[in-house]
Amino acid sequence: MSHDDFPTENPAVVTCGLPYANGDLHIGHLRTYISGDAFARALETLGQETAFVSGSDMHGTPVAVNAEKEGVDPEEFALRHHEKYAETFPRFNVEFDNYGHTHDETNTELTREIVRTLDEKGYVYEKEIQVAYDPEDDQWLPDRYVEGTCPYCGERARGDECDEGCGRHLEPGEIEDPVSSISGNPAEYRERTHKFFRVSEFEEYLSEFLDRLEGTSNARNQPREWIESGLQDWCITRDMDWGIDYPGEGGDDLVLYVWVDAPIEYIASTKQYSERVGAEEFDWATPWRDGEGELVHVIGRDIIQHHTVFWPAMLRGADYNEPRAVMASGFVNLDGAAFSTSRDRAVWADDYLDEGFHPDLVRYYLTTTGGFQNDVDFSWEKFQERVNGELVGTLGNFAYRSLLFAARNYGGAPDADTSEEVRERIEDAVADFGAAVNDYSLKEAGETAVSLAGFGNEYIQRNEPWNLTGEEPDRAEQVIYDCVQIAKAVAVLSAPILPGKAQRLWEQLGEDGSVHDAPLDAALESPPGEFDEPDELFEQIEDERVEELNADLEERVEAASEEADGESDGTAADESASGDADVEPISEDRISFEEFQDLDVRVGEIEVAEPIEGADDLARLEVDIGAETRQIVAGIKQLHDLDELPGERVVVLANLEQAELFGVESDGMLLAAGEDADLLTTKGDSEPGTKIR
Ligand code: 2FM
Ligand code: ZN
Repeated sequence: MSHDDFPTENPAVVTCGLPYANGDLHIGHLRTYISGDAFARALETLGQETAFVSGSDMHGTPVAVNAEKEGVDPEEFALRHHEKYAETFPRFNVEFDNYGHTHDETNTELTREIVRTLDEKGYVYEKEIQVAYDPEDDQWLPDRYVEGTCPYCGERARGDECDEGCGRHLEPGEIEDPVSSISGNPAEYRERTHKFFRVSEFEEYLSEFLDRLEGTSNARNQPREWIESGLQDWCITRDMDWGIDYPGEGGDDLVLYVWVDAPIEYIASTKQYSERVGAEEFDWATPWRDGEGELVHVIGRDIIQHHTVFWPAMLRGADYNEPRAVMASGFVNLDGAAFSTSRDRAVWADDYLDEGFHPDLVRYYLTTTGGFQNDVDFSWEKFQERVNGELVGTLGNFAYRSLLFAARNYGGAPDADTSEEVRERIEDAVADFGAAVNDYSLKEAGETAVSLAGFGNEYIQRNEPWNLTGEEPDRAEQVIYDCVQIAKAVAVLSAPILPGKAQRLWEQLGEDGSVHDAPLDAALESPPGEFDEPDELFEQIEDERVEELNADLEERVEAASEEADGESDGTAADESASGDADVEPISEDRISFEEFQDLDVRVGEIEVAEPIEGADDLARLEVDIGAETRQIVAGIKQLHDLDELPGERVVVLANLEQAELFGVESDGMLLAAGEDADLLTTKGDSEPGTKIR
């Protein structure tokens, strides 16, 4: 079955993956919400009736663990973040028709109802499983409360997801070498009875569903591989207090796994929207259950499995409609590396706005840089280049020069009709826009407006109306009328991606109402006759500004790193020590105390430090280690001022095998931290030769 092109007769629901209510938003997080908003607006421009909904993900260990670290109640903690998100999204022109949260009554009731249905229909069963437990703290360790090794790829992983390796969802009991992420205590596995959803029964259905699924190709291809390798049933309960209580028999002390109630919020949020505007305006049940609808999920690519396997199986099992499309985006990097919230290596949503940048600029950058599935690299330089080039230089420049000329010479649009050339060019842009939306390509949809403005610049340049006003006034009027028509089409086509700026352009054209209510055909309808001189839509970003922004980022990262180094208490709960992008993972291979005792580590005092001729990094040291003085070769020449080293107390591994480096014998090793070879020393004045244990 293939779906009809948008717009269809059915109501559409566009949803965005629910953000966990557990931290501040940076522009990397915003990609999904901006894209969802732009896509929903684009559908509406095509004439598709659309509800755009989401909400905050309040439950689960991502919230509980962070609340515990902060020492606050998870509900209070999550609500605080929820309110902040609800306030932040509109500031980026992300206008949900409803933004709820998973802990509200609508979602709680709907979740219970759906789980009861699944249970009654025989899709839920009980099974004894091994669950990680911290015997010292007497605590069960679900999901993010436990860390260890992924059984599939051997990488370090969290309890519910191999987030640094193969990306697989992990079931309770699967993670190897479990350790509590709160206390760092080694965990043990204990037997518990949990509830399971029979995902395996939906294998055939899911495989057919994927054939119908639209959106990005990654959302179809990845789950196909998982299905081919055989689907496991899915544990849907957890040993926690925070969450929605299991509603059926025999789950008294269990809550539902966060991934059960989270996507149900898509339905609950639509329901709240219906309740607010009235079912005559938008009836939630039509797209979700009782009729037909176009359900489009906009998510990050890390949660494809949940949206293309578990979620459609739940919907099917509970007699709800299936998604039409899943649009799974790549990640956003900052200057070529992942955002790191713990290291303040991020462009925070609030900071971006406080800098005075218009939200539409980052909307444009995030939606039109590369394909939706690809990662987007953000840097202030690249941002500046796109803003100055495409928005200031092309779109803004065209709109300003055309409307200024029109206002000054004719008090608005002159009296003429659109030329054939321009009409055809706008018709092409309109067709491209429709095709791009049907292709789920925001980049191409966004490009239609900029490329039309580029044509407008070329058109005005080629026709030189400023040279025609005297001798060929009719021609001049024709050219300027065409330009105003192009500007109107640019406003309509750019509205989904640049909602604020498109509205401004709409007003500059003397149009009434909102550009967001204008159908695509408005691109070809005559503009109103009168308007005033415009102001510029966009402002150039200067080089000095970019330098300042980079310096600020660098400073923040440095300060955060110093703070993290100073504050780390060495437990697994410390984010910088638990798999942050910049820190090497802690080795999973434990050694015994006896093995540690085999290392003969001593306090030493450097007596001589001199470069080794011809070797780039190596220095020859003589180090007093109490009983004797050792010659040691160390790779520290570039990193330390050798003249300053004599007299320094250091830490030496004394029983390392002897080696010859660059022809010089080395009898021991200096211990040092990190790339900068920060030499280890002792806090007090331990004498050379003192054994370190
Ligand atoms: O991965 C996450 O951030 C989840 N909070 C997404 C949930 S999306 C949906 F299922 F609700
Ligand atoms: Zn893995």
